Amino acid sequence: MARTPRQQVIAYDELDSTRDLTPMAQSLWQAARDATNVAYAPYSGFHVGAALLLADGTIFSGSNQENAAYPSGLCAERTALFGLSAAHPGHAPIVGMAIAARPATGDFGIAFPCGACRQVMLEFETRQEEPIPLLLPSRTGTILRFASLADLIPFNFAASDLPPA
Ligand code: THU
Repeated sequence: MARTPRQQVIAYDELDSTRDLTPMAQSLWQAARDATNVAYAPYSGFHVGAALLLADGTIFSGSNQENAAYPSGLCAERTALFGLSAAHPGHAPIVGMAIAARPATGDFGIAFPCGACRQVMLEFETRQEEPIPLLLPSRTGTILRFASLADLIPFNFAASDLPPA
């Protein structure tokens, strides 16, 4: 058997500042930051916010919610997505997502979603059959813009991989 080296490339934009975003995307970015104010993170001291822009212009946000039994808590991304779906079934399509994170006291920093959240993000995107662009703060203070949530989880496992029920 021959060995065939292959590569997978992930394309994204790197923006210098929020000035390079559309006004709507700026609002979404700010909503993710605002959501960190209502995180409940007494155990990690890491406040995360996630914001979803809907096609009707609504912004729906979530934040991480922790618990004394640590694994019982939930990340901001899943709080936002599950919260939206549970509270507003049949909601307008999601046309943008932004994430923000900061220590309890301190400045905003990197906010890359964990693996479990990427998995959930993928399925929301797949369900609505339209890509969801994502804005993430990088380690250096720039903004990373991905065209699709699926870009963050290559080689993923999805519903289509399950046998027919
Ligand atoms: N957290 C998020 O909310 N999103 C992520 O993608 C990474 C981690 C939260 C979970 C926990 O409340 C805290 O950050 C520390 O892991």
